[in-house]
Amino acid sequence: MSTCYLNGEFMPLKDAKVSVMDRAFMFGDAVYEVIPVKHGKIFAAEEHIARLERSLSAIELENPHRTPEWNALLEKILVANEKNQRSIYVQVTRGAAERDHVLQTDVRPTVLIMSQTGPEYRDLTRVNAITSQDIRWTRCDIKSTSLLANVLLRNQAKAANAYDAILLREDSVTEGASTNVFVVNDGRVRTPPLSNLLLPGVTRGLLIEVLVEAGIFIEEMKISHADLKQADEIWLASSTRDLLSVALLDNDTVGKNGRYPLALEAYTHFRTYVAKCQAN
Ligand code: PDD
Repeated sequence: MSTCYLNGEFMPLKDAKVSVMDRAFMFGDAVYEVIPVKHGKIFAAEEHIARLERSLSAIELENPHRTPEWNALLEKILVANEKNQRSIYVQVTRGAAERDHVLQTDVRPTVLIMSQTGPEYRDLTRVNAITSQDIRWTRCDIKSTSLLANVLLRNQAKAANAYDAILLREDSVTEGASTNVFVVNDGRVRTPPLSNLLLPGVTRGLLIEVLVEAGIFIEEMKISHADLKQADEIWLASSTRDLLSVALLDNDTVGKNGRYPLALEAYTHFRTYVAKCQAN
């Protein structure tokens, strides 16, 4: 039985209840984090907690915990749950109140922390992707639980036998519906620059650092639809999947002769980095 944390108490997940008046239920008025567990330990907690702080600040919600408290809560959830944990999910909502768009004072935020199970992938996986119009709002830098557009896009991808949808705003790639995107053209690795139109992915940030350290330079610049279509390689990055290599984009083979050497190299560097962090 999975143990979660809700508003100051640890309890079986099946017993965790929140009010139907919670603003997350009414308005999607909440932010979240998915913090991966790698080699049985929490990975990159500092980066995820820092992003949670930025998301909370962007929606003008006071952070209910200081960093050491967050770390202790995450650790307790890790210990309370069995093996095979893939990630720890954290959600902070603006709390339960009378239904009104306008914020009321004296509302206590709801804090939920739970464990999510699943395998830890230890090989580079190849997936398919589709392209789609980015139908989301223009504050995609906030990790908000208002994910209706992402849900529709992921399902559109699933219906096309693909893992994710690579999103285009006007003619530029923003990100995937649940991943950040990297594109290789003639040996140049590029990823869209951070802006309000994409999530500052923790994996994206770490991958850039690790690869630059390994001598693989990443250019943070615009990627057009044509660049994407002509790419030699396309990578998708996220906390639970590290790096994925795209085999088919909109049913067309990506790259030449189905080869993806830089993805293999990048994946090896990243997993070596993960192993080093987790060994301490
Ligand atoms: N998704 N972009 C979007 C829209 C995402 O939802 C995610 C992660 C990422 C990758 O970010 P990170 O490397 O920090 O995981 C990029 C998570 C896993 C989710 O919603 O479940």
